[in-house]
Amino acid sequence: MMYERVTSALGNRPKEIGHPEMRKRQHDFYSELPTDSVAIITNNPSGIRSADVQHRHRFNSYLHYLTGWSEEDGVAVFHQSAGDWKCRLYVRPRDVKMETWTGRRPGLEGALSGWPVDETVSRGDITDNLSKLLDGVENVYHIHGLDGNVDEIVDSVLHEKPIDPRAILDEMRVLKSGSEVELMQYAADLAAYAHVEAMRECKSGMGEWHMQSIIEGCFLFHESEWSYPSIVGSGDNATILHYNENNDIMKDGDLVLIDAGCEIDGYASDITRTFPINGKFTDAQRTIYELVLKAQLAGIEACQAGSPWSAMHDATSRVLAQGLIDLGILDCTFEESLGDDFDGLYRQFFMHGTGHFLGLDVHDVGGGRQGDDKPERVLTPGMVLTIEPGLYFGAWREDIDINPKWAGIGVRIEDDILITESGPVVLTAKCPKEITEIEALVGSN
Ligand code: GLY
Ligand code: MN
Ligand code: MN
Repeated sequence: MMYERVTSALGNRPKEIGHPEMRKRQHDFYSELPTDSVAIITNNPSGIRSADVQHRHRFNSYLHYLTGWSEEDGVAVFHQSAGDWKCRLYVRPRDVKMETWTGRRPGLEGALSGWPVDETVSRGDITDNLSKLLDGVENVYHIHGLDGNVDEIVDSVLHEKPIDPRAILDEMRVLKSGSEVELMQYAADLAAYAHVEAMRECKSGMGEWHMQSIIEGCFLFHESEWSYPSIVGSGDNATILHYNENNDIMKDGDLVLIDAGCEIDGYASDITRTFPINGKFTDAQRTIYELVLKAQLAGIEACQAGSPWSAMHDATSRVLAQGLIDLGILDCTFEESLGDDFDGLYRQFFMHGTGHFLGLDVHDVGGGRQGDDKPERVLTPGMVLTIEPGLYFGAWREDIDINPKWAGIGVRIEDDILITESGPVVLTAKCPKEITEIEALVGSN
């Protein structure tokens, strides 16, 4: 069987988030809403890929978080009735003719019996039904821009802008429950094993797309899918942060950088590994790899409960800023390399943040990312984030003067970290990153 090694190493898949946990989320949400409120959570829009072919639809993470509902056009509305909160779900009704073309629908009865909701209404009736529900309500919560029809209903009833519910929901999503962590651990394991399979198969002359197909095939084989488009960048392509053409031949003597992760019940993993295509680091590649690994380990070590969010970027940046001087790549003082606000000369070669929250979105909600205008987060048990420093020496870059020895080297190492009382837990630990482990694995099949 394909991917036999992965299947047996993975073990049992954890259960999806259950209805009691979703009901608890709904109640936690209600407890943050003032009286006389209605909160509307729409699904994501569908996107056209070509002519009448649609992109595969991905549910809205807030809708999934609160109800588990994924079908297109679903809208959850949280409102009070006789003093009790109710979750009303607008869904597509059963329609055998339409279902023959586009797939089965649970319909109104199916949604009511199979999902943690209290009432169901046909999506076709939403204009009248929701307008009535909103009439005279003081606080309406709604995210504009996802469902044009719902935006119009809200705008026609409201005299002012609706309130953004994300301020409440993001706080809830930032801390992961035990069952969420189980799903994320499984997503991390699957992505880790998929990377290992790609390393084993890697040979000079293969296409970047071959690596992509091994990894994404492994996701699909295990009833998963990518959580973001996979990046497979060999040689100079590794120095382009969001490269995902993945259409080059992988050359002997080059590195390949693979940034690929998957989703389990919507929860993402996000792993980057960089390794030599022929299985053996050159001296220059090894030198840069060791420096990035040292920075990454320092970043992980900084993931201590109680530390500010910036501690991990501080840790990785200090290692890289000094390392670039030690290697003679930067001819400046440490202060000039690091800069006053992590904006020094080292940023020519490490131009992104050290990490981001991870959850139902790969760049998960809750802030923390560089450039956010939100107050700085304190790392708290239950948070999951990535640590992903890198160094990039694009031979193609006209803006940097770089010794040819380093040109064409791009290295990033990325793991997913759970914050706990007793220190950081690396959820992606099953993906090797030590040089000896990598050299033993690459091309070993
Ligand atoms: N794969 C997206 C990221 O690493 O942030
Ligand atoms: Mn990431
Ligand atoms: Mn990534």
